[in-house]
Amino acid sequence: MPQSAESFSEILARTLAEGTLHSLILANPQRRGFDGPSKQTVRPIKLRGERTWQWELQTGKQQSHLNLGAAETLERAETELAAHYREAYLFTSERDYQIRSAKSGLSIKSMVAKQDARPTVTEHDRTKSRLIPEGVPCPFLEALGVMTPAGHVKQQKQKKFRQINRYLEMVNDIVDALPSEGTLHIADFGCGLSYLTFAVHHLLTVVHGRDVRLWGIDQNEQVIRRCQSIAQQLSLQGLEFSTSDIARWRRIGQIDLAISLHACDTATDAALEFAVRSQAKVILAAPCCQHEVSPLLSCEPLVPMLDYGIFQERFAAMATDTLRAIALRACGYKVQVLEFIDLEHTPKNILIRAVRQRDQPATYATRKEYDQWKSFLGLDRISIDGILESGETPRPMDAG
Ligand SMILES: C[S@@+](CC[C@H](N)C(=O)[O-])C[C@H]1O[C@@H](n2cnc3c(N)ncnc32)[C@H](O)[C@@H]1O
Repeated sequence: MPQSAESFSEILARTLAEGTLHSLILANPQRRGFDGPSKQTVRPIKLRGERTWQWELQTGKQQSHLNLGAAETLERAETELAAHYREAYLFTSERDYQIRSAKSGLSIKSMVAKQDARPTVTEHDRTKSRLIPEGVPCPFLEALGVMTPAGHVKQQKQKKFRQINRYLEMVNDIVDALPSEGTLHIADFGCGLSYLTFAVHHLLTVVHGRDVRLWGIDQNEQVIRRCQSIAQQLSLQGLEFSTSDIARWRRIGQIDLAISLHACDTATDAALEFAVRSQAKVILAAPCCQHEVSPLLSCEPLVPMLDYGIFQERFAAMATDTLRAIALRACGYKVQVLEFIDLEHTPKNILIRAVRQRDQPATYATRKEYDQWKSFLGLDRISIDGILESGETPRPMDAG
């Protein structure tokens, strides 16, 4: 490899400014007695729309993270390399650099980057816009079999990877609605294999540097055992899993964020009821397989449509989610209904996003809207009623 004409600081400052730095690794600590990180890896991430440099510090099996700006990254890299490490590697869009640090100073060799070993410029741009970038090792995605140890997404897991990132963008959008200080309390109801539970933990702890207590709840003991074992293996702080029916899960205190993704049928309503009762600031619910309302529908004007089984099923699903949205509004939430992920991944792609409004109390009018819609559909008592009962919803008799 030829010697580089530029110094380490010049290369790093230039590639940080250009946005062409793919990663920097500080490795091979100088002294035996040094008890700092055995390796430090720096990569670009996007944080609240801004390019930031994430430092991953590997100390034994533990990883910790720092998010720094370009100037701080340059300063820290110069100091750490000079004081503690024998080697550094700089990977950029165009060239790779191998740096050896010795008493006599730094020797820098460079070679043209192997384009197949890292994102191309276009991929690099896309990488920058993802909350979990491709080409960057991510321990939980490796443990779940989505990435290789080198951070490459496995071919058959590309869709899963895109789905996780898309979902994280939606969670990222509501981070500002959560308390800005202290530990965040989160429950993920019907967490299943917990790809998205681990992803939320990663987003809030690694990307946002927050303390969290996140519970994954599922009635399937086998999946919960698997999730517990992965969380333990990765030493993930504040992540717990418990085997329970959602309706029976008990926890004292408030929840900041309640999540329920594709929990089956009325399990979504049990999750929403818990969320409202514990005054969750934000609720993210992707309902699935609604079975309760369909056979109960009794509405003369809709008969020509409901005579077709497929229409009846789809209409029942929309009617159910409409009732959930109205019930949440009646409990003081601002509600949006969004497309969760591309239809190519799953037809169950509706996400109900509800954010608790401090200055917008529940209204009698919304409660009335709920009752009228139910009456139009010919529905009597249904599980969704529990959401209203758990909130501070005014009743007609309270209207004064
Ligand atoms: C389709 S999976 C979704 C898993 C995960 N949330 C996701 O989106 O990838 C639904 C999960 O909900 C769980 N579940 C369904 N009803 C439940 C209930 N009443 N209490 C607890 N878990 C439930 C199932 O065991 C299953 O693991």
